[in-house]
Amino acid sequence: MKLLEVAVIPGDGIGKEVVPAALEVLNAAADVHGGISFRFDSFPWSCDYYEQHGKMMPEDGLQTLQNFEAVFLGAVGDPARVPDHVSLWGLLIKIRREFQQVINIRPAKYFRGLSSPLLRPNDFDLLVVRENSEGEYSEIGGRLHKGDDEIAIQNAVFTRKGTERAMRYAFDLARKRRGHLTSATKSNGIVYSMPFWDEVFKDVHKDYPDVQTTSTHIDALAAFFVTKPQVFDVVVASNLFGDILTDIGAAIMGGIGIAPAANINLNGKYPSMFEPVHGSAPDIYGLGIANPIGQIWTAKMMLDHFGYLELGQHLLDVVESVTYDGIKTKDIGGSATTREVTSEIIRRLQK
Ligand code: NAD
Ligand code: IPM
Ligand code: MN
Repeated sequence: MKLLEVAVIPGDGIGKEVVPAALEVLNAAADVHGGISFRFDSFPWSCDYYEQHGKMMPEDGLQTLQNFEAVFLGAVGDPARVPDHVSLWGLLIKIRREFQQVINIRPAKYFRGLSSPLLRPNDFDLLVVRENSEGEYSEIGGRLHKGDDEIAIQNAVFTRKGTERAMRYAFDLARKRRGHLTSATKSNGIVYSMPFWDEVFKDVHKDYPDVQTTSTHIDALAAFFVTKPQVFDVVVASNLFGDILTDIGAAIMGGIGIAPAANINLNGKYPSMFEPVHGSAPDIYGLGIANPIGQIWTAKMMLDHFGYLELGQHLLDVVESVTYDGIKTKDIGGSATTREVTSEIIRRLQK
């Protein structure tokens, strides 16, 4: 029996509803497999924790997490109580950076049983590789002057190592999939980082002559995600562009509440972290209607990461069958609760 030790951070808002649901599903999946079991250690780090302790996690929080094979996180943020840049940089972004989770993989595909808002809901199956450790998200900059003359300066940082690393990862994935990679650029308007991005992309491409590439400006790319998502295989994007594209990816599948993500540490020194694309949804927290699919699909990505690909695929097939039969939450056009969707997934898994 293989024991998988996972640190769990439900976080804020609906994270506290969908994480327990996904853990139940993971336990059921482990039973179905027969050869694995999970140990989940839960940590209450969140905006509640911040109100009590003045920080989002304890000083030795990262050392605690380091002992686990993976981190499973819900969502962070409760902007009515703690400013988002404080809560996110104090927990989610802190873990991503300190644990060198430099790649964020975010799939989007035609999902059975969901009504997509696309005019022509063709089959599509794409994977966004989001650079996850630098780019437009930086703490370099400042605010000058006050009043009418106030200026905010926000710097972006693109290193050759970080850019190349994300691109190589994306080229490798494209090679294993349908052999096409799209790069999200904006070198027509942004004069330093994006021409550099394009240059690195061309350089790395030389090592992957068998992969076909396209470079598309992010504005047009955002539109193409809506008008012809089926042309994309793997898409590599900077931190911010990848963030925005993957909410579009979620939306074209049928809703923000279903998309998963994996924050991958490549050097094996730290655990990877699994969290859905969506946030803490304060507007629906406590109603019991949060869609658990994003968190459950994220659990599937964690199973993949541990090497249980068949089990992961089986889990996703079960989730799709439940959606296909109309057992779905309100955000995707149904009337089922979080509990009902979760119970049905577990029931079908056990069959
Ligand atoms: P959000 O994703 O939380 O919500 C956007 C909309 O989608 C809301 O109407 C919400 O009800 C709905 N929604 C999201 N997930 C859903 C689900 N599983 N089921 C049903 N409906 C769902 O985005 P936001 O409103 O911009 O952010 C709210 C908070 O979450 C903020 O503090 C934000 O910073 C934070 N956030 C955290 C993460 C993360 O931890 N990974 C990601 C995004 C946003
Ligand atoms: C995400 C989120 C975060 C991000 C926010 C909450 C900082 O939107 O994981 O997609 O932008 O990385
Ligand atoms: Mn986002």
